Amino acid sequence: MSAIPPYPIALEGEGLVLRPWDEELVAQMAGWGERGFPYHAFDLGHLRDPEVARAALERARAPRPHRHFVACENGIAVGRVSVNLEDPAGLYLWSVHVPPEHEGRGVCRRMLAVLMRWLETEVPGRSFVLTTNSFAERAHRAYRALGFTVESERWQFDPDLAAGMWRASAEQREALTGHVRFANGRWEVRVFVMRRLPGTPMHIGPRIGATAP
Ligand SMILES: CC(C)(COP(=O)(O)OP(=O)(O)OC[C@H]1O[C@@H](n2cnc3c(N)ncnc32)[C@H](O)[C@@H]1OP(=O)(O)O)[C@@H](O)C(=O)NCCC(=O)NCCS
Repeated sequence: MSAIPPYPIALEGEGLVLRPWDEELVAQMAGWGERGFPYHAFDLGHLRDPEVARAALERARAPRPHRHFVACENGIAVGRVSVNLEDPAGLYLWSVHVPPEHEGRGVCRRMLAVLMRWLETEVPGRSFVLTTNSFAERAHRAYRALGFTVESERWQFDPDLAAGMWRASAEQREALTGHVRFANGRWEVRVFVMRRLPGTPMHIGPRIGATAP
């Protein structure tokens, strides 16, 4: 296995500082606002339990193959992202999450740009890959702005989403029409695989005509 970069102390750029998880950041993330279904798998309220928080931090600090970052603005945790450095498909970005109270200010684009610039230097030549549920349109706008394109799509079983579907209201299910299906005896979600080649231009600024909150 080729050498993978150790954790940096911090990655800076675009008005953000990306830091590896620590106790203080985990405590901040435990207080983040939550979205609930169908984004419930991202919600971090479970980190309010000290034992769960301790175990999550221990996992986040495991030496390989993942790197887990929290994006901070003036010491305030405003987003998180993880990357699997050893996935055969590419540098695999996952857990891209900005809580509702920090949405709409380009945190997602800015933190991914900072992380990918670092990775392009540390692990040159590898492309970036991610999977995203087809209903996550806000995320898709950010990924496209950063140079990702859809490489393929598939139906996939996601245990968290499937569990949520059993409890979902008729309106919630209706909103996911075309994105979720019951097939093969289980709920499946439509997923896009998106890829970005290293060096692809990234458009990080606010969209023309977008209104700042
Ligand atoms: C998807 C998610 C990460 C997006 O976070 P975000 O920080 O709001 O996303 P962006 O960086 O794209 O910023 C959003 C908007 O701010 C605008 N913006 C405002 N100021 C900006 C600035 N200074 N720089 C860049 N963009 C700016 C962007 O143009 C963008 O506008 P648009 O959504 O109308 O295209 C967040 O909604 C989330 O966590 N959702 C739930 C979990 C999820 O879906 N994760 C992805 C799974 S694959």
